[in-house]
Formats: sequence, C-alpha cells, structure tokens
Amino acid sequence: MNARREPIGVFGAGYVGLVTAVGFAELGSEVWCVDIDEAKIEKLRRGEVPIFEPGLAELLERHRDRLHFSTSPRETIENARLLFVAVGTPPTYAGDADLGAVLSVVAEMPVSADYALVMKSTVPCGTGRAILRMLEEQGRSGIAYVSCPEFLKEGSAIADFANPDRVVVGEDGAGWAADAVCALYEPLGAPLVRTDVASAEMIKLAANAFLATKISFINEIANVCEETGANVLEVARGVGLDDRIGPKFLSAGIGYGGSCFTKDVSALKLLAANSGYHFQLLGAVIEVNELQKRRVIAKLGRHLGELAGKRIGLLGLAFKPNTDDMRGASSLVLASRLVAEGAHVRAYDPVATEQALVVMPSLDCATSVQEAVAGADAVVLVTEWPEFLALDWSELARTMHGTVVIDGRNALDADAVRAAGLRYEGIGLG
Ligand code: UDX
Repeated sequence: MNARREPIGVFGAGYVGLVTAVGFAELGSEVWCVDIDEAKIEKLRRGEVPIFEPGLAELLERHRDRLHFSTSPRETIENARLLFVAVGTPPTYAGDADLGAVLSVVAEMPVSADYALVMKSTVPCGTGRAILRMLEEQGRSGIAYVSCPEFLKEGSAIADFANPDRVVVGEDGAGWAADAVCALYEPLGAPLVRTDVASAEMIKLAANAFLATKISFINEIANVCEETGANVLEVARGVGLDDRIGPKFLSAGIGYGGSCFTKDVSALKLLAANSGYHFQLLGAVIEVNELQKRRVIAKLGRHLGELAGKRIGLLGLAFKPNTDDMRGASSLVLASRLVAEGAHVRAYDPVATEQALVVMPSLDCATSVQEAVAGADAVVLVTEWPEFLALDWSELARTMHGTVVIDGRNALDADAVRAAGLRYEGIGLG
C-alpha cells in the first residue's frame, strides 16, 4: 500500500472504466467509480464482474478495500480531484461519435479549478476544446481538462494497462492536472507523449484507423493471394520483417470487429467530412472490411453450391478470443447472411453465447463444439479461441454430414484437418 498515491474518480464502469479503476487500485490509489447502471454497481459491490476480461475479477477481489462503487458522483467528488471520464461514445445513426453520455458526466463535474476532468473516452478531435467552451458559456468554467486516451485491447486489457506502449497526456495549460496524471502513470515506465488536447484526441483516432488499415490491407493481399497462388502467411512473414512495417496486425481473416475499430474509423472519416475533407482511404478500409466478412459466404457456395437447407456450424461468435464482446463481431454478419440464404446455422462460443443471444435472439446456439459440428455440411472457424486450435478433427469428421472446413482465422492445423479426410480452406492461403 502506497499512502501517497493520488486517489482518483472514474465515471463509467465499462471495459475502459473498470480496467482503469483496477489498474490504478493495483498501483496503490483509492478509486471511486461511478456508473448510472444500478444493477452493475450492485454487482460490483458484491464483488461480481459484469464483463468477461481475463484478470479483472482477481484484481477487483484483491483491491476490494480500495475500490468504491456508487451510482452517485457525490462521494467521488469529495474524495478525488482527478475525475476520469470513461463512458461509451457509440456511433450515432450518422456514424459520428455520440457524446450524450460524455456530456451527461460533464454536467456533473464540479465548478472548481481544484478538479480536473481527465478524458479517457474516445472522442472526436476538438471535443476537449468544445467542452471547455461550453462550460464557459454556461458560467461553469474552472475545471482543468486533460485528454488521456486509452489504448487497451479487450482480452488483454489488464496486461495492456500495466504495460502500455505509451501514455498520451494532452493539455492546453492544465498545469497541475497534467502533471498529476503523468505522475499516476509514472510507475509503469512507459514513454510519455505530452502534447496538446487536440493532438492527443487525434493520436487515438489515428492509431485505431491505422491498425484497421493494416488489417484491411493484409486482407486485400490475402484475396489477391487466392487469385495468384501465393500464401498470405508467407507474405505477411516476409513483409512484417521490414522494420518499417512490423509483424503485428498482419493476420488476414474474416475482417476486424469490436466496438473500437468499426466506430473510430467511421468517426474519423466523418470528422474529416464534417470539416470538409474527404478521407478516401478510410472509405476503402471500411468497405474492404465489410466485404471480407462476406467472403466466407462465397467460399461456402463454391464448395456446397446452393446454401439453402445446408447445415453450417460456426466455431466462435465473439469478435476475438478472450472476450464475450459481440459488438461489431464478424459472426453477426456471417450468421445473418447464411440464415438469409436459407442455411441452418448452429454456433458455439465458449464465453460469448449469452451476449450473442442478446443481439441475435433467434440464433441456434450449441453448448459444445461437438453439438455445433454434428450433422454440419460445413464448419467455419470464426473466432480463434485456444480450445478450437486443439480439436480432434478425426472424431469431429465422423459426426459431420459434409467435409468442408473454412478457417476464417488461418488458425487451425490444416494438416490435421486434411488428415481427417476433410477439405480445408483458409484465407489467402493460395
Ligand atoms: C482495438 C485497439 O487495438 C486498441 O488499441 C483500442 O484501444 C481499442 O480497439 P480491440 O478492439 O480490443 O482493440 O481488439 P484488437 O486486438 O485490436 O482486434 C480488433 C479486431 O481486429 C478483432 O476482430 C481481431 O480479430 C482483428 N484483427 C486483429 C485481425 O483481423 N487481424 C489482425 O492482424 C489483428
């Protein structure tokens, strides 16, 4: 316990808020966390974790004495001067970021220069300045404003918090507040990017847009590999060894999902458009991703012919392993397109079934891989959960009706699948 650590407030107990809360509790801070969702706060008070994120439950348990949960901001404001905002900024119907939740929290901020609003939510570039202008117009100015975007990935969020590639702290004269935020992160020893608020906001959007671009790029290379006989795994290996490119985010597959990439790429494109600039590249990144999610349908059609009446087993529903998050998951597009074609879809996910049924209540969900695969004409690997990588394909093949296995993540052992007498097809493998 380090008694000198700065106490903090966190508004929003979602992925980013909870990980920030437990991360700073682990570093020794007292943390007051507020959320408007009473059921969620009740759960957290009982020590229950509302989301699936490896390591989160352990840290919540370990620091129960330092973590205070409430639906009212009063206690938070009494106990902390650094008030982190980590509420959602989902897309509006127009594709921009919806700042409704952010503005509700801003309305609860104290009118005092003794406090700082530390923005963790991903917001369009210009939001910080707009908030300060709005507070001034309302005669509520005074609070310091710091932009501190979060780069954690779901599924490895706790580790990402503890080992960030960099910490970005944006301020336009926030002085003590920016210093205090830097001091909070100091024990992590990460490179610090201290900059202005607009640039900090843009760093977050640009990073996500670049990563999404990298994925759409390798997916297009994979598609060309399929036409030319090259193997995208070999190509990615050779390309990724170039120090200027790097090996990460060069895994071809059935498109990126998740809440951040889909939302932030679209938000950046519209932010540019709203300021009169046509961000052509991002239009292509989004379109490639949407088409990539649908390419499996064409692959299945080539193997099975008419899809109506065919049985398709989906392995994995979550947008990536180690999370139960279904936002933007490629499985949703795949399952609904298959159902629209008249196919019978049965899916299995080790963790995300409950969340999947919230968004697709009519989805036929199995309780095991065996159940999803039995009687299937084709099986599609959608999410590369570790337990799918060590399946006994000989045993599964005996229960299947057909012989097609589409590996949407290039993650299976192709030889093992083929040795079971099945027809294996990955993405861009020549
Ligand atoms: C992303 C960013 O990585 C993170 O910095 C930001 O804070 C939030 O958005 P996240 O959405 O949690 O994180 O997951 P990430 O691991 O980045 O994967 C996003 C999607 O891209 C997944 O669907 C994943 O399967 C896909 N992906 C990733 C690929 O298809 N190929 C790759 O090479 C890498």
